[in-house]
Amino acid sequence: FDPKTPQFLTSDPSSFASVSASDRWPVILTGAIDDLHRTVGTVTDDEKAKDGKSIIEQLAKMKYELQHNRPLTPLEDDGEADIASYNKELAERGNPKWHDVAWLYAECYLYRRMETFFALSKHWKGYDVFARQKMSTFKSSRPAVLELATRYRELAQDAESGVSSEGKSPEEVEQAQRLLFSEMCEICLWGNATDLSLLTSLTYEDIQKLQGSEARKASQKNIIVNDLDAAFETMQKARREKKDGERRVDIVLDNSGFELFVDLILAGYLLSAGLATTIVLHPKRLPWFVSDVTPKDFSDLLNSMADPQAFYTAADDTDKTYPPLAEKEVADVQFLFEQWSQFHQDGKLIIRPHSFWTTQGCYWRMPHVAPELFEDLKESELVLFKGDLNYRKLTNDAEWDPTTPFKTAIGPMGPQSGIRVLAFRTCKADVVVGLPAGEDEKLRQQPNGGGADARKWAWSGKWAVVSFSDGKQ
Ligand code: F6P
Ligand code: MG
Repeated sequence: FDPKTPQFLTSDPSSFASVSASDRWPVILTGAIDDLHRTVGTVTDDEKAKDGKSIIEQLAKMKYELQHNRPLTPLEDDGEADIASYNKELAERGNPKWHDVAWLYAECYLYRRMETFFALSKHWKGYDVFARQKMSTFKSSRPAVLELATRYRELAQDAESGVSSEGKSPEEVEQAQRLLFSEMCEICLWGNATDLSLLTSLTYEDIQKLQGSEARKASQKNIIVNDLDAAFETMQKARREKKDGERRVDIVLDNSGFELFVDLILAGYLLSAGLATTIVLHPKRLPWFVSDVTPKDFSDLLNSMADPQAFYTAADDTDKTYPPLAEKEVADVQFLFEQWSQFHQDGKLIIRPHSFWTTQGCYWRMPHVAPELFEDLKESELVLFKGDLNYRKLTNDAEWDPTTPFKTAIGPMGPQSGIRVLAFRTCKADVVVGLPAGEDEKLRQQPNGGGADARKWAWSGKWAVVSFSDGKQ
């Protein structure tokens, strides 16, 4: 079911695939080992500690195999249906070695194999080695969180009081709505610049710099494909045609912490502006690509916002401390918490996990592998795919010519799918499509752009694409 275009391989020294396999994954595995080691150290039950140590050994073994370029071994059966398909594909790919394998397959395999260690243990089922890091990074996003909470509350209050449309013609109101829609979407887009799997190369300070409104303004020119207007038209059209009917928007989530926070900002905005009546959020079933959202991350985020003062001032196991929040800051964050919790209670903000999102394959396979999910997404006015990995899966992480139309590169999710796809992605991998002729070449010529040898400009998260496909033709 996959496209014929070859995929990026970890053996290609000019691709971010090889940097990932040789530099990033060992660091990620070391981090996982350290985390578990720390937790095991606090455990008093000997049997549980022993069980934990055995997982540490398995993680260390996988790291050894990765660093010594051993073949990927079949996954142990942890009772979930996707294991057979991972293993079948591994055999079909000829039992490849870590440094000569399709990047997308190997990276999914890495996280799925980690999951089997925990799922097959007695005492550590459901343990998330990335949870600490996810929460502490969210905490360190505090300046941007507070800035956005204040901005959002003002907007919501203006909308409620009607001052935002006072004395304006319908055209002016629509224009204002379009601008606001773009602003909300840009907030949500750049929230993706800071996923934790890249923390191996970014500092907390770098991350904070990327999150504020100044950074966003400066980055507008870095959105090299921008289909937001087409997305806005689609939503307006739905609003006109189904004024009182259900209008659903889906968000296929990416990272937790700050990115989930901005996804919820967008969701809350779409609901309060009447651009959608229901938002369906799609998290991952298991810890995935370090920082991806699991259902627990969603509830942890809401809980932290219920009492932001306690959250920010409580001692945690990092050496960072935060000054107390001002009263108004507490109120702004709680305003968001109350609105989101209400939406959640009213069934307007729904969280719907599906095992398809953590399978190894690209989304070209969705109609065959998860036909009910494919059908379900057709019910949505707009399906927003967040982040780099979703983009790689939409396009099969393949070596498309960068001028290939987005619709072509997403295959069965594109024309005639009946699914309106919108991808928000800051570029953190080689694959990119939908560019005007000459753009890739131009970006390669920039400092650190990679020149003729590599598409390095696309690895850093500095550039972004917002691509839309209307599911027709
Ligand atoms: O490119 C680095 C990387 O970790 C990729 O492995 C992965 O596709 C991506 O970033 C994860 O980013 P995101 O959280 O945006 O999907
Ligand atoms: Mg991610």
